[in-house]
Order: sequence, then C-alpha cells, then structure tokens
Amino acid sequence: MSAFWSWFIIILTVGNILGCVWLLQSQSKLPAGVSTEETTGHVWDDNLTEYNKPMPRWWLILFWLTAIFGAVYLVLYPGLGSFGGTRGWSQVAQYERERAEAEARFGNVFRAFADIPLAELAGNADAVRLGRNLFLNNCATCHGSDGRGARSFPNLTDDAWLYGKAPETIEATITNGRIGVMPALGAALGEEGVAEVAAYVVSLSRPGDGDSAAVATGAEKFQLFCTACHGPEAKGNPAIGAPNLTDDDWLHGRTAADIRDVITNGRTNQMPAQLEILGPDRIRVLVAYLLSLQAEPGG
Ligand code: HEC
Ligand code: HEC
Repeated sequence: MSAFWSWFIIILTVGNILGCVWLLQSQSKLPAGVSTEETTGHVWDDNLTEYNKPMPRWWLILFWLTAIFGAVYLVLYPGLGSFGGTRGWSQVAQYERERAEAEARFGNVFRAFADIPLAELAGNADAVRLGRNLFLNNCATCHGSDGRGARSFPNLTDDAWLYGKAPETIEATITNGRIGVMPALGAALGEEGVAEVAAYVVSLSRPGDGDSAAVATGAEKFQLFCTACHGPEAKGNPAIGAPNLTDDDWLHGRTAADIRDVITNGRTNQMPAQLEILGPDRIRVLVAYLLSLQAEPGG
C-alpha cells in the first residue's frame, strides 16, 4: 500500500471514531438551561408533542464500548493503513501456520505413496479413496463431482484426452496446468468459409450430415488452415491439446452452430496449475484416482 493510501485510511478511520465520540459526548447531556420537562416545540396532529430528553444511558454506554473496542482493536491488529498492529498478527501468517500444521499431520499419509509407480497406484484402494476426496475438494467445481466434466471442461472418465493419457502426461497436466488455444479464424475464412469447414468437421464424425459440395470445399480449406494443429487427418495433436475432431466427442458443443462459433471466435481454455496448491505427493494420488476412473467398466 502506498504511503498516500495508508494515511488516507488512517485519517478517515481515526476521524470517524473521533467523530462518533464527539457525537456521543454531545448527546449525553442536554444543553445548559434546557429542562427535561420542556418539549422540543414540535407539534403534530394539533396536540402531539415531544419531550426533550437525553439519550438513554444503556444505549450510550453500548456505543462508548464499541468506540473503545474499535480503538483497542486498531492498536492490536492491522486496520490502520499499513500499520500492522502491536500483536504482529496477519492473515497470511495464520494461513501459512495452519497449512504447515496440516502438512505436518497429513503430509505423511500422501508421502507414503511417493515411491509407488503411478500405474500401480491406480490399483491401490487407499490411494484411490484419498484421491477421490482431493478431487471433490479441488477439481469437482470444474470437472464435476463424477469427473465427467461439462461444456468446455473436459470429461476425465472417457478415453478422449486432449493432452494424452499416459500417467506421466496426466501428472504433468495437473502439476503445471495447460492452456489450450484455438485461434479465432472467422476473419481469415469469412462466414461462408467457416460454414464450409464446419460442414467438413461435422462430416468427419457424422458422415452424410451436411451438403456434399460444402464438405468438399471445406476439406480443402481444412488442409490450408487447420492441419498444422489438428493434423492432416484431423485426429488432433496432444502436444498442444488440439482435440481429435473425428470422434464425435466435443469439448465446446457438438452442433454445427457450436462448431462454427468455435472456428469463428476461437477459444482459450485454461487448466490451472496445481503444484503450488497441492504439491507433488497429492498430485500423484489424484492421478491414481483418475486412472482408476478409466479402469471402471463403462467409465
Ligand atoms: C478452474 C477450473 C478447473 C479446475 C479447478 C481444474 N481443472 Fe482440470 N481442466 C480445466 C480445463 C478448462 C481443462 C481443459 C484445458 C484445455 O482445454 O486445454 C482442464 C484439463 C484437465 C486435464 C487434461 C484433460 C485432457 O483431456 O487431457 C486433466 C487431467 C485435469 N484437467 C485434471 C484436473 C484435476 C486433477 C484437477 C484438480 C486438482 C483439476 N483438473 C482442476 C479446468 C479446471
Ligand atoms: C494454432 C493451432 C490451431 C489451429 C490453426 C486450429 N485449431 Fe482448432 N483447436 C486448437 C486447440 C488447441 C483447440 C482446443 C481448445 C481448447 O482447449 O478449448 C481447438 C479446438 C477446436 C474445436 C473444438 C473441438 C471440441 O471438442 O469442441 C474445433 C471444432 C476446431 N478446433 C476446429 C478447427 C478448425 C476447423 C480449424 C481450421 C479452420 C482449426 N481448428 C484451427 C488449435 C488449433
């Protein structure tokens, strides 16, 4: 925080507290010479008047206590600009301490699996159970509690992999994250070009769908614009996460309109890196869980 904002906050906070104190002080007593039997002089509905009394004492005391609490708090804890408080407490330090405690208690549980090869770990019931818990806490928001994903979030239980299905590849994906970039090609292809190439893409997994002239010109344009990433047979390229377009398994939707939209506007899709959050031992246990999903019949 810059010195300016720090002082800005300090002056505003202290000023507010002093303002409240002044207000409380000024309302504790009636001004000299005013009796509590006098009315304020306001009259409603011809005969309703109001006495001029000081604020109730219990009510004022509550406010005094809050003001004192606030002042003491701001001395002990952070709150006044960049002044950290005399107790030296900080959110980050507390988080780090609790994390270190949790690591000391539970870290060994995960470390026990560190030397077992990944493929073998997938058959280890304990690892899979722990991996499932980690998955529900860390991955389910995006990939679904059953790992089947949602639009733009890949299904992790089927056999279609963007980046490859080798255990070490899955481990690398989770550790370092991935960014899949499909460039926007609407401007380069034009509306008609997009429609043709989309017709060709649809025909790869649903032969017979779409007008055959469009599919033929689409195929030529595909060779020019798309094979660098999706490959000459459109079977994808796991090195950059370019999906296989021939398997009728779609990340961003399967209708011709969805496919035209992806080609026209492109997509940037990110899997966040987990190394800093989970560390290598937990990631291995997660890989074991994902591999166990593959082994399930019909998974
Ligand atoms: C914020 C959302 C988000 C979270 C949280 C998340 N993922 Fe992902 N994940 C994605 C997206 C999006 C992709 C696809 C990236 C792409 O299209 O290139 C992906 C891709 C993957 C892939 C590659 C799939 C393939 O087909 O190659 C794996 C494996 C994976 N995630 C596992 C995990 C695990 C395990 C966790 C929990 C530790 C997790 N993800 C948490 C969004 C997320
Ligand atoms: C620079 C490399 C690159 C080029 C060139 C490229 N793509 Fe892609 N494409 C990708 C990547 C990477 C993805 C995955 C994006 C993601 O992770 O969400 C993708 C995704 C797609 C999808 C969505 C697939 C799904 O499962 O939903 C379609 C459809 C597609 N591309 C078609 C094309 C067509 C048609 C062309 C040529 C006109 C093309 N792409 C050119 C890299 C490329």
